[in-house]
Amino acid sequence: MVSGSSRVANAKLAAKIMSADDAAAMIRSGDTLGMSGFTGSGYPKAVPLALARRIEAAHAEGTPFHVRVWTGASTGPELDGALAKADGIELRLPYNSDPIAREKINRGTMEYLDMHLSQVAPMAWQGFLGKLDIAVIEISGIRPDGALIPSSSVGNNKTWLDRADRVILEVNRWQNEALEGMHDIYYGTALPPHRVPIPLVRPDDRIGEPTLRCDPEKIVAIVETDSPDRNLPFAPPDACANAIAGHLLEFFRHEVAKGRLPASLLPVQSGVGNIANAVLSGLIDSPFDNMTAYTEVVQDGMIDLLEAGKLRMASATAFSLSPDKAAHINDNMAFFHDRLILRPQEISNHPELVRRLGCIAMNGLIEADIYGNVNSTHIMGSRIQNGIGGSGDFARNAYVSIFMTPSIAKNGAISAIVPQASHVDHITQDVQVIVTEQGLADLRGLSPRKRADVIIANCVHPEYRDALRDYFDRARMHSYGQQSPSLPGEALSWHQRFIETGNMRA
Ligand code: COA
Repeated sequence: MVSGSSRVANAKLAAKIMSADDAAAMIRSGDTLGMSGFTGSGYPKAVPLALARRIEAAHAEGTPFHVRVWTGASTGPELDGALAKADGIELRLPYNSDPIAREKINRGTMEYLDMHLSQVAPMAWQGFLGKLDIAVIEISGIRPDGALIPSSSVGNNKTWLDRADRVILEVNRWQNEALEGMHDIYYGTALPPHRVPIPLVRPDDRIGEPTLRCDPEKIVAIVETDSPDRNLPFAPPDACANAIAGHLLEFFRHEVAKGRLPASLLPVQSGVGNIANAVLSGLIDSPFDNMTAYTEVVQDGMIDLLEAGKLRMASATAFSLSPDKAAHINDNMAFFHDRLILRPQEISNHPELVRRLGCIAMNGLIEADIYGNVNSTHIMGSRIQNGIGGSGDFARNAYVSIFMTPSIAKNGAISAIVPQASHVDHITQDVQVIVTEQGLADLRGLSPRKRADVIIANCVHPEYRDALRDYFDRARMHSYGQQSPSLPGEALSWHQRFIETGNMRA
């Protein structure tokens, strides 16, 4: 416990301050927990660790102890890592990138429900996910009137606070006090048939409140912490990432010249990972000014764009910053405060808003097939990597939906473009542009066979191009149908060869 209680300005609530161990003791085996956290930001850091210790102790005595964990998206090692290591998670939703949890999921000892991030809150309200017992939410402070000041992510916190029977709060003093006022919590969502349009027409519109509401009677424990968010540093852009960024910038210039995009582009959505961050960095030297972002996470590249005066503002649900950039933002909060808005993820990722604003969606992929079906979640069709995250929310509803990847993985043992994707989470209709370091395929307006021609010509690594061309040519001669010619007995043979030999090459 941290001494003092300066961030808990409500006297009645201050009386509920206790240790993380005492708070974790209120959690029972079988409980469903709604935790805060989105990427490595704003997740509870003390109670999950205390819970993991309890679970380990119970297991050591031969007593089973498991909880179900719902969050915003991925979290940090103190939450997903610690609970997974303790074998304490029965079911996890809606997104995970923790390596220990990933291993347990792929071993089949942890259930994982991979969901579109915009759908989690509505599904919780609709009752489809079951009952929520306890919310464990990190905040940066409590105001005298009891309103909760969010921290570095909003995620599903509003919904967990509303739906849970009981609430445990972590008040994290590491979070910058100046975050207050940056958030926009919209309380106007409803269930059908009572839904009304969401009154947001520009990325910088504020439609809600700066704080989270919570019935004080439900708050059973408050734990004070002083712990940093744990996001990983981004890799500096390599030649491959720079080439992908270059192709995309050329595409944007072309679209502006054709009058299909304004000179300030349209609100940008940028997915997770190093390539997405490299593309943002590439925009610094672009001719586009006065840009905006309506996205899920604010990455390092967006901070640079804001400071360079290229990006006017960014709306998201969380920070996903390297430790250096997080420190930089904390030191320069006066500059960033009014240029950033953090919203609940059901609003940051809302299909209605993504479609209305006309976002430019840019997401990563694991593999794509020659017809432009994309797999962004599964390795060799069966092992989960992370999850679909918000990519589906944006891709289906974007003005233009772009997917990017290096053309090969594992030093060339894997081609990212394959005859048939081993798993599909973005259907060809939701995939308009594919870009690798080899080039860009603009698939808009193309039928499947034309798509295959362009993808093979522009995106495939030279080592795999002839083999893919040969597959497509033979499929056209021998296929059962000519709409999307395929040879079912051979279509997944590249994956089978990799599983057997460690190499897709023939
Ligand atoms: N087949 C098998 N493995 C592959 C592969 C392929 N075609 N392509 C990549 N990999 C492996 C990499 O080798 C790497 O393995 P490692 O962890 O053992 O080193 C791993 O997959 C991750 O690849 P990497 O290139 O580091 O990925 P990334 O950081 O650029 O992320 C995705 C790519 C697809 C995993 C990531 O974008 C993602 O999770 N997307 C879905 C969620 C999403 O889009 N969220 C944003 C929405 S707002």
